Amino acid sequence: MNASTTAPLAPDAPWVVLKFGGTSVATEARWRTILELAGARRARGARVLVVVSALAGVTDALKSLCGSAAPERLAAVERLVERHHALVHGMGLAECAGVDRWLASLRVLSQEGGATADAATSQPLWQAAVQAHGELLSSALGAAFMSANGLPTRWLDAREALLAREVPFLNDRARALSAQVQADPDPAFAAALAARGDVYITQGFIARDGDGRTVLLGRGGSDTSAAYFGALLRAERVEIWTDVAGMFSADPRQVPGARLLQRLDYDEAQEIATTGAKVLHARCISPCRRARVPLLIKDTRHPDFDGTAIGPLPPEAAPSIKAVSSRRGITLVSMETSGMWQQVGFLADVFALFKQHGLSVDLIGSAETNVTVSLDPTENLLDSDVVAALAADLARICRVKVIAPCAAVTLVGRGMRSMLYRLSGVLAEFGRERVHLISQSSNNLNLTFVVDEGMLDGLLPRLHDLLIRAGALRTDDATLFGPTWQALYGVSDSHVHAPWWRAARTRLLDLAQATPRYAYHLPTILERAQALRAMRSVDRVYYAIKANPHPAILRALARAGLGFECVSPGELDAVDAVADARESPRLFTPNFAPRAEYAQVMQRGLATTLDALHPLQHWQELFAGREVMLRVDLGRGLGHHDKVRTGGASSKFGLPVERLDEFLELARTHGVRIGGLHAHLGSGILDASHWPVVCGQLASISEKIGNVRVLNLGGGLGVPSHPGEAELDLAAVDAALAEVKRAYPQYELWLEPGRWLVADAGVLLARVTQSKRKGALEYLGCDAGMHALIRPALYDAWHEIVNLSRLDAPADTLYQVVGPICESGDVLGADRRLPNSSEGDVLLIAQTGAYGESMASRYNLRPLADAAVIE
Ligand code: LLP
Repeated sequence: MNASTTAPLAPDAPWVVLKFGGTSVATEARWRTILELAGARRARGARVLVVVSALAGVTDALKSLCGSAAPERLAAVERLVERHHALVHGMGLAECAGVDRWLASLRVLSQEGGATADAATSQPLWQAAVQAHGELLSSALGAAFMSANGLPTRWLDAREALLAREVPFLNDRARALSAQVQADPDPAFAAALAARGDVYITQGFIARDGDGRTVLLGRGGSDTSAAYFGALLRAERVEIWTDVAGMFSADPRQVPGARLLQRLDYDEAQEIATTGAKVLHARCISPCRRARVPLLIKDTRHPDFDGTAIGPLPPEAAPSIKAVSSRRGITLVSMETSGMWQQVGFLADVFALFKQHGLSVDLIGSAETNVTVSLDPTENLLDSDVVAALAADLARICRVKVIAPCAAVTLVGRGMRSMLYRLSGVLAEFGRERVHLISQSSNNLNLTFVVDEGMLDGLLPRLHDLLIRAGALRTDDATLFGPTWQALYGVSDSHVHAPWWRAARTRLLDLAQATPRYAYHLPTILERAQALRAMRSVDRVYYAIKANPHPAILRALARAGLGFECVSPGELDAVDAVADARESPRLFTPNFAPRAEYAQVMQRGLATTLDALHPLQHWQELFAGREVMLRVDLGRGLGHHDKVRTGGASSKFGLPVERLDEFLELARTHGVRIGGLHAHLGSGILDASHWPVVCGQLASISEKIGNVRVLNLGGGLGVPSHPGEAELDLAAVDAALAEVKRAYPQYELWLEPGRWLVADAGVLLARVTQSKRKGALEYLGCDAGMHALIRPALYDAWHEIVNLSRLDAPADTLYQVVGPICESGDVLGADRRLPNSSEGDVLLIAQTGAYGESMASRYNLRPLADAAVIE
């Protein structure tokens, strides 16, 4: 420690409370970290209060000591003496009077014993006094160590400051072992401490009761102590130092892609802590909320990680789901009665019985004749006897069904109601599970689904992914969502690399002399083409040129050995116009095209796909004696949006499988051969099992037809758009297709992707035109609107938008990014956090290589965006 840690403090110097748990105080190395952190805050001009837990394992040892007979208690105390003495010496202290004092008092207490030797019944106050010694010892050790190492630290007895409040109806046990403290800012207490010293250490977990006796704070005790002290001192901040960087958007053990939540408001944090997250006990939030003291969760082993900051959030934050959590062990009680609402007092009678059995109800769902409530095991001592006794009593006034074990899955986030429209995909996921109860909290912060516990496996990762994809978990907002757990603690995700346009920034700024303008990065496209060509199970890849027919792209892909899938004579001409592409295999896959187009293409001898009976019924002469491909409708569609799903009766594509016999009959009559079967269920699919499943289905249909050579599995290969969304696992597609191929070796497999090859390779450059504030919203206008890129308006598509002119400036303004078109839907990105932007800045709209330029229009008679190619 240096002079700055002893320089006098200003009279109004703020307090910072630091809390460390059991593993953080168990070794000399960890104490050095505490010393450094406390010293750094003191050096910055703050008063410091360190709150510590007992050394790891000590509280458990003390608890079991309370349940042991006298000789065993003595042996247990001696083991604790040894452990603490060893650490005193290990920390370079010759001796520690504070530690010896508490060891001596522990010896005396344990000799006295409780009323009986059974922990469940022995005097709760004696147990509290014994268990308090874990923290009394660790704090005494800390005071000695820190003072000996240059940071004069005063030992504070937490019981002086924290007084348990009287809670009516609490039994003796709860009063002694699960006490609560009313902690309001107390300037006199803060001033008295400040007068005695600058740096203090005290105990977590303990307080005193009205008679001055030691009581414990129960679960999450040390965090709660830190929060109480933070409130009493009206600290500038309470820092909870633990073994993980903070709260995450899901339990990282189940969802490695869960994101660190960098900022939460008190209510959200409370909700997340209540509904599953273990890192912070829900109890410790309200003292800080009441006193408006921010909380910060940090990782002791990685002080450089940002952590989670909990405090009042700026109101301009966009609504977002922050986390999805789950709780197991939920019991549902469903109560059925006819005409319940007519019965005055029915609910009062029902709930009186819950109260009588000491059960606190969590969620409630009601219908005309049914009320269903959930019981949470963390709030209730739920054993089957209690529930059976309750059910027996309830049975006297209604029909009762107990459903257990259930799990509650909760989505947490501010403004839940305004996000419901985004959740259809998420709700569909629950459609497959059995939902017993749905409950939306009245504070608009959570939406909970209760399902059978067995349904939980694998559900959370799927939901997390769906929420990101739906734009409901706004992982694009980097001020709220930090890195993934995997990136922080695991092997970093090899897929996550900086996009090409970061390195090409100067070139792109140069290209942005004229805007709106697309720019395409050929190396990215070639890399993708090679990956597809390397799939061992796929015999041929046709590029669906509707995604982007730019001649330079067609040339590059022809050279890379790809064929072309075209849907119109215009697209076929576009391929013809590129010398290198002219000789490449081509596929004509139209839909509701006129006769003349088929006539022209059949004449040229190109492979043609039919997807209806009409051509064979009315234009047989075009196909007689020739080979065609047949597109079937497998009865379901998939993809990133309803409008791109191409299966099922509501979609106009494909021959329904039940009409196959009619088609085969017509083909036989006119001597038409079916060389291949085709299915394309939609666009933007990220599930690797999709193509193998389709392959299996087409193979089994082909058996029926005979002589089919080719199975064309369509395109649809998706690219993740939102940050954190999982990539399509191409290797998994390949491996699973190879499996199917082993069963059906006679078929050639074709793919016809568009998006996957080109989406990431393209960006749209635009210039800021104007900005405008309206109410709470800040609009940022640019010269690219829905005429240049229609995907956001048409599909609610999400494209990353950055200010290329200020790429590394902090993104601290929330914008609605809009274009110049006379439509309210002309919004390129809603609620986007960007640096404060000005007229003339260059915006980059990412991942616009597919279906960007090719779907552009001259609406409002604005010129088409042009395109540049980066070789
Ligand atoms: N094959 C057929 C028969 C298709 O209809 C399509 C796309 C593809 C292949 C290529 O699909 P891809 O691999 O690109 O997903 N405009 C929408 C996408 C519409 C796709 C139309 N058909 C969008 O911007 O998302």
